[in-house]
Amino acid sequence: MNKIEAENYPVFIGNEVFQQVTEYLHSNKFSKVFILVDENSLKNCLPELVKNVEDLKNAEIIETESGEENKTIEVCIQLWKVLTELGADRKSLLVNLGGGVIGDLGGFTAACFKRGIRYINIPTTLLAQVDASIGGKTGVDLENLKNQVGVFSDPQAVFIYPQFLKTLSKRQILSGFSEVAKHGLIADADYWKEIKKFKPAISDWQEMIVKSVTIKNGIVKNDPFEKGFRKVLNFGHTIGHALETLHLERENPVLHGEAIAAGMICETYLSYKSAGLPHTELDDICAFLVKTFKLIRFEQSDYSRLIELMEQDKKNEGPGINFTLLKTTGKAEINSTCSSQQIFQALDFYLMKLSLDIPSLIQ
Ligand SMILES: NC(=O)c1ccc[n+]([C@@H]2O[C@H](COP(=O)([O-])OP(=O)(O)OC[C@H]3O[C@@H](n4cnc5c(N)ncnc54)[C@H](O)[C@@H]3O)[C@@H](O)[C@H]2O)c1
Ligand SMILES: [Zn+2]
Repeated sequence: MNKIEAENYPVFIGNEVFQQVTEYLHSNKFSKVFILVDENSLKNCLPELVKNVEDLKNAEIIETESGEENKTIEVCIQLWKVLTELGADRKSLLVNLGGGVIGDLGGFTAACFKRGIRYINIPTTLLAQVDASIGGKTGVDLENLKNQVGVFSDPQAVFIYPQFLKTLSKRQILSGFSEVAKHGLIADADYWKEIKKFKPAISDWQEMIVKSVTIKNGIVKNDPFEKGFRKVLNFGHTIGHALETLHLERENPVLHGEAIAAGMICETYLSYKSAGLPHTELDDICAFLVKTFKLIRFEQSDYSRLIELMEQDKKNEGPGINFTLLKTTGKAEINSTCSSQQIFQALDFYLMKLSLDIPSLIQ
């Protein structure tokens, strides 16, 4: 069992984590407990949780439909109505049992309900276990713009049970693995070396989850409200979020991690062009990203829409599009501004890699 102290809450990681959930429930007084699930966490994770945590047997289960397209204010309104009908009050607890969508949606729902009720995260996807469940960012998309509405609100605790990953598809595992790759690239060159050797099929993820949570938590602790350095976690996300939104608009969603892998290839190129990343590292990083991840598709005719979407990015402060770029593997710098021309070149670079048509591991 690993325990990591976040700013205001503990993160437990391991196969004995249900014991910690039980202790947490015993040491707090809740009027009612609600568990938010989608149809997949309901089927694959809830039985295991309830079997191991006696106190959750009588919890109210609230089910919502899976998918990024449901991370909306409309779904939150439904959840607020259901909580009201079921008699939730300020002393209630919401348990978010699911991936990053459930965590973001449930966290935001809890943060606003009656001006805030307590919530805990029990993440069930790799992406949520290594990244989304930590750091207190909650929110929803607005007309496909990613996380346009939200608040910073910390969970009371996070409980990570790596065994939940057993039922996750390879595609979803790889989506989470792209955030793992990001952690190595922005913060730890030795970790990057380990990541390159790691086979995503290996079932024992615990060590990697601990490492990634430690990196993310270390960054968030120093800048919980993203006034500055926390922006390093956005490496790959300026272009990645634009690509994710573009595909949502086309009603052809891609996975968050797939969009971020594409975003990281483009932004590694920008790092080479304008942040001093050596050419050998550009080659090393892109070779790994291209061979490991499913490369999502777009066309040159999409460039202007992508730029419009990047102009909406929350990191922007005044004119210009804001990027986090790599100075070298394991070291990132925030607040680099790139011109549309440079961004077009980076998108061209990506399309050139795509046209090489290197088969992805998951196809
Ligand atoms: N708050 C943050 O700091 C933060 C950080 C990174 C990403 N995010 C957000 O996280 C979201 C992506 O999260 P995600 O990749 O977990 O997506 P997700 O929540 O959509 O989950 C992916 C799929 O896996 C299913 N699933 C969940 N657990 C399962 C299990 N154990 N077995 C089988 N299927 C299971 C889900 O039902 C869903 O279909 C995006 O909305 C992204 O913006 C938030
Ligand atoms: Zn992300």
